[in-house]
Amino acid sequence: MFDQIAEKLRNAKKIVFTTGAGISQESGIPTFRGKDGLWRNYDAMKLATIDAFYENPKLVWEWYNERRQNIFEAEPNLGHKAIVELEKFSQVVVLTQNIDGLHQRAGSSKVLELHGSIVKIKCTVCDYKDEILYNFSEIPPLCKCGNILRPDVVWFGEGLPQDVWQQAIDHAKSCDVMVITGTSLVVSPANTLPIYAKQNNATLVEINPDETIMTSEMDLSIRSTSATALPELVSIFKK
Ligand code: OAD
Ligand code: ZN
Repeated sequence: MFDQIAEKLRNAKKIVFTTGAGISQESGIPTFRGKDGLWRNYDAMKLATIDAFYENPKLVWEWYNERRQNIFEAEPNLGHKAIVELEKFSQVVVLTQNIDGLHQRAGSSKVLELHGSIVKIKCTVCDYKDEILYNFSEIPPLCKCGNILRPDVVWFGEGLPQDVWQQAIDHAKSCDVMVITGTSLVVSPANTLPIYAKQNNATLVEINPDETIMTSEMDLSIRSTSATALPELVSIFKK
């Protein structure tokens, strides 16, 4: 399996990685679904919607501060780093649902954050936006304009940043191989990216310890974690 995938990668002009929470799991960042998933113990509708935020901004900020702290302390793992290594050989684009910034910290040069970034903050009213690498002591934090600041992430019911999403579709439609790793592919519209890639006859590769709802659409699958499989794949690719 690894040999076949490595061969596809060697012949590809453009490789797109579609990633989700699972790629950061081995960096100590919990996923959303599955046995240790965040949505098992936390109610998404109370923490990750705009209505929940206005209802109880302090609660939502407490939860985001905890996640921010965890992410500040986390380091990119061998999976993130293997993707960076491939840039030496091909055009590589990362389309991620993750908000943790670990692909960029690992060194990937082309990352599109479909669901925003937990490191970034924006005002709920004016167009203030910034990257803040520490936690606020007073929550909810306020903007200079007097209104509440929020994490610059996409919550349930909100649209994706349109320019980012359009670029993501364009990359999906023009890649030769799409490697899908660490995502359950249940959240729309990110889960339509493999379909766009298929329109270009791209080879779809899934790296995930478990099957997903789109496993049957994949051309090749590896049932392993990303921090194990990706470095192995890259080392075979280089042989
Ligand atoms: P999920 O938590 O839904 O799925 C994580 C996937 O990663 C599962 O398929 C796991 O089997 C797999 N996985 C677990 N550990 C892994 C590992 N070490 N290596 C590789 N794969 C592993 O996460 P996402 O698909 O990213 O959105 O979730 C999508 C969106 O739902 C998130 O961006 C977030 C969430 O609600 C919003 O909050 C808007
Ligand atoms: Zn403001």
